[in-house]
Amino acid sequence: TKKMILDLDTGVDDALAIAYALAAPDVDLIGIVSSYGNCLIEQAGANSLKLLELLGATDVPVYLGLGHSSTTDHFDVMQVSKDIHGNNGIGEVELPPAKRALEAAAGVDFIIEAAHKYAENLIFVPTGPMTNLDAALAKDPEIANLIGNVTFMGGALTVEGNVTPFAEANINQDPQAADRVLRSALQITMVGLDVTLRTLLTKQETQTWRNLGTATGKAYADITDFYIDAYYNLGIDKTGCALHDPLAVGVALDPSFVKTIDLNMKVTSDDNNYGRTIGDNARLNEPTTNVKVAVDVDKDRYLGVFMDYLTKLFK
Ligand code: BDR
Ligand code: CA
Repeated sequence: TKKMILDLDTGVDDALAIAYALAAPDVDLIGIVSSYGNCLIEQAGANSLKLLELLGATDVPVYLGLGHSSTTDHFDVMQVSKDIHGNNGIGEVELPPAKRALEAAAGVDFIIEAAHKYAENLIFVPTGPMTNLDAALAKDPEIANLIGNVTFMGGALTVEGNVTPFAEANINQDPQAADRVLRSALQITMVGLDVTLRTLLTKQETQTWRNLGTATGKAYADITDFYIDAYYNLGIDKTGCALHDPLAVGVALDPSFVKTIDLNMKVTSDDNNYGRTIGDNARLNEPTTNVKVAVDVDKDRYLGVFMDYLTKLFK
């Protein structure tokens, strides 16, 4: 079985990514590393612990990664995406405090250790900024040749960004880190807005979780409805919310959900193109590429699997 590490800025869709990873057969979720973005890093760690407890997965360790980008010295509460994910990251839903604590070891060291231990069997899925993976690569460059695959949620190639016309939120947090990761030797799949904005969940689906009559079904329906309401109120989409992060987990496990193009990519961080994910002209004629960019998705098949997994998990 494949081993998976999730690297999350635990907001609403990150919470859905945890559920998908736990419900999917043939994969062991061996740990969660925390990041910042949808909320502060401590909140992301606390949210992951609480969600794991809610889902009965108290054996999955949660680590703290780095709490701010590689080019700044802080990330504060004024910068979190509270309009979309609520003040606590998980749609203002109050879950019981977790009985467990975060791991004492650093998230970056956990990534390095797991890369050596599991090598090509390890799938690393960042659905927040790329800061932790970048730091792990800086500390131990060898892991670029060890980790089997990195499938990340972030970026936009064929559509506009969601923060600026060019930048998607996760990339926008730390474009320099994302650039180093994309230009490393890692084998990478990019699950960006190109496909996640086409993969929408509606209240019809969250209602089926509510109808299960379980604490898990209700909590996940409440958390996700906050996000669907935010999409509606902010005019992002009037029908549902994008399944950004759980789609990345789905693609990591079954690449056939998406159509991809092979490309060598970079992230620009000059003023006019800050956080833009784009082909790297300097490596255009190289014989090999290391990034597969998802540009189309079989959303009906994905949604079917997504609902099947999560509904069984919430029963
Ligand atoms: C990404 O940014 C975060 O707000 C979401 O959790 C997702 O990972 C979407 O741009
Ligand atoms: Ca996220």
